[in-house]
Amino acid sequence: MPNIIYINGKYASYEDSKIHVNDRGYHFGDAVYEVIVFNNKIFYDFDGHIQRLFNSLKSLEINFSFSMSSLKLIIKNLIKMNRAIVGSVYIQVSRGISERNHSYYGLNIKPILTIIITKKSNIDINVKGVRAITLDDNRWSRPDIKTTQLLPNVMAKTKAVKNGAYESIFIDSDGYVTEGSSSNIWILNNDNKLITRNLDGKILSGITRNSISSFAKENNINVVEKRFTRDELFEANEVFLTSASSFVIPIIQIDNHKINEGLVGNISLNLRKLYFDNFKS
Ligand code: PDD
Repeated sequence: MPNIIYINGKYASYEDSKIHVNDRGYHFGDAVYEVIVFNNKIFYDFDGHIQRLFNSLKSLEINFSFSMSSLKLIIKNLIKMNRAIVGSVYIQVSRGISERNHSYYGLNIKPILTIIITKKSNIDINVKGVRAITLDDNRWSRPDIKTTQLLPNVMAKTKAVKNGAYESIFIDSDGYVTEGSSSNIWILNNDNKLITRNLDGKILSGITRNSISSFAKENNINVVEKRFTRDELFEANEVFLTSASSFVIPIIQIDNHKINEGLVGNISLNLRKLYFDNFKS
């Protein structure tokens, strides 16, 4: 079974791929990343993810010279080499290698690009509802940049899993929902408005969120981007999450509150289907 990754200009087996101990990604989380899913030669939202990667790099002042098309070529090569049909692509760019020093000012170092393919079993259009828990958002003030510095997210997801849930939903200090530990959160309220938090710098600008918003609007669903409270979350008719690896997943219980009497909602399921249909065509 081949397991080939791309690291620092080379294709290499897992065993032969080495990260330098002075990689700033390793020391400081001084790195950005993206996850893109593919299925039978279809990439979901490829350009959006790569564009966001470039935005994250710019925010952190990492000088990266690869173009969108050269990244695509490497990724296609890797998928072929790994004989993968369905799976995800993990792309990470760290600032590079230098002796440990917090400041990067004046460092003349080359970013390290790593790309890893993970094979998946088939993607199911149908999906079961999942449980979520809420907890305080204790992340840094720039969660809009997709960096590998993810400890609060890691702790939050682990707490969810320990509690038999799929996702943790962060709540800000004013009682409003920000996002999930690795997803954006949506509610369908009692007025049939589909609400997700606006891009106020307190959430990641999810690529799946962006597509779902367009597909919903094209299908005459009233989409509103604004903050909503934890109570609105509990009282919603439907709740779902979006992310590159989960697409759209309905949430049927949050803490001790059942959503839609614990049943998967139609709008959530329709949006999941719409997402797949849009990339098929
Ligand atoms: N997570 N918010 C956070 C904090 C995320 O980590 C993610 C994605 C999202 C959804 O963004 P997108 O739709 O672009 O995937 C929102 C990825 C999948 C991960 O960390 O694996």
